[in-house]
Order: sequence, then structure tokens, then C-alpha cells
Amino acid sequence: MSEIETSRLLLRQWKNEDLAPYTRICADPEVMRYLSGPMTPKQSEEQLSQFVGHWEERGFGLWAVEEKSSGAFLGFVGLLYQEQWPEGRHKTEVGWRLDRSFWGRGLATEGARASLRYGFEELTLARIISIIHPKNIASRRVAQKLGMTSRGETNFKGNDVIWYAIERREWNADALSSSERTSQNSPSRTSRTLGE
Ligand SMILES: CC(C)(COP(=O)(O)OP(=O)(O)OC[C@H]1O[C@@H](n2cnc3c(N)ncnc32)[C@H](O)[C@@H]1OP(=O)(O)O)[C@@H](O)C(=O)NCCC(=O)NCCS
Repeated sequence: MSEIETSRLLLRQWKNEDLAPYTRICADPEVMRYLSGPMTPKQSEEQLSQFVGHWEERGFGLWAVEEKSSGAFLGFVGLLYQEQWPEGRHKTEVGWRLDRSFWGRGLATEGARASLRYGFEELTLARIISIIHPKNIASRRVAQKLGMTSRGETNFKGNDVIWYAIERREWNADALSSSERTSQNSPSRTSRTLGE
């Protein structure tokens, strides 16, 4: 199971000790404003075991996010396969949810950027999506900062949402330096089609 370090964050696997702070984050009405509303401790616990189950089933998932400098648990970022996604066959979403006291420092964007890199470079996904409540401006801004573009509105699990996406070729075009671009015609890695 993968772990990723960014400049300020450790994206790691889930531990039992994450349950208490995760439950506190999900009980915060501000955090859950554009999601399902505040969650009970039981709902948080069930969700955490779903996250762990997703890793076991698919080999990727949402990472627990830890601040490197303090060791504090901040929430999650990562990749989630959305089985019921209605807009095409690319159903892997990049998602984020952080403790309110850590908002506004670019941390969600930092963690999500590493998640996109993992999705494109390790899992060789062709497209990664993000499903967002239209009024969730902070989340839409994170998607934009990642280079994702709005693809329209749809209904997902009974909610009206706006969705963003980025294709691997767009990610590559962004990530490759001009010197690397000259070797772009070399054979690409075989897609493992994991999660696509
Ligand atoms: C969405 C969330 C993860 C963002 O985390 P974060 O670490 O604060 O995000 P970043 O700092 O990387 O970027 C947030 C951006 O939104 C902007 N922003 C935040 N609130 C805003 C508002 N009300 N209006 C306009 N812009 C806003 C910030 O200024 C920043 O953009 P900038 O870098 O151009 O200034 C965090 O707010 C969160 O956990 N929200 C609750 C859970 C949630 O809604 N998850 C997403 C479900 S789709």
C-alpha cells in the first residue's frame, strides 16, 4: 500500500487512532455543509471501514492526511472509484476533506496534486473527475488550481452537482518540461485500466 510525502504532508494508510479525529471533523457542520450534513460517530466509523475496504478491493483509495511538522491528523485526500457515476466510463474521483482549522493554506491542493500524479503515473488512469456541490466554492477552486475543467452539471446519488475532470494527456502536457516533451513519441506504458 502506497504512502506519499509532499512538502508539508504525509499521505498514509489509515490507523485506528484516526477514528476519533475523523469523527470530530465529520461532526463539524461547516466541514459537512456541502456534503451529507454532520455525521454521527457510527457513520464516521462505517465510512472509515469503507475507505479501508476500497483500498483492499482496488489497491488505491483515500489516504489519511498527516501534517509532517506536527503529526496531526488533518482528514483525507485521494482517489475514490464512483461505481454509480453516470457521465462516462471514467469513474475515479479525486476527493478531499480537511479539518477546518487547517483550511486556507493550500494543503488540500497540495495533497490532491500528489493524488492526481499517483492516479496518472502509477495507475495510468485516462481521466480523473471531481464531483462538487455547485455552491462549494472552495472545492471548485481547488479543482481549478489542479488544472481540472468544468464539464457540466448532472445528478449524482440524488444531488445536483457540477463535475470537473482532467485527462492524462492534459496532466502530462502540464507536468513535462519542454525538453521531456521532445521524447513524447516514445511508447507509452500499458494501461492497467485499474479503476477506469
Ligand atoms: C474544500 C477544502 C478541502 C479546501 O481545503 P483548503 O486546504 O482550504 O484548500 P486550498 O487552500 O488548497 O484552496 C482553497 C481555495 O479556495 C479559495 N476559497 C476558499 N473559500 C472561498 C470562498 N468562500 N470564496 C472564494 N474562494 C474561496 C481559497 O482562497 C483557495 O484559493 P486560492 O489559493 O486561489 O486563494 C476544505 O474547505 C474542506 O475540507 N471543505 C469541507 C469538505 C468538502 O467540502 N470537501 C469537498 C467535497 S467536493
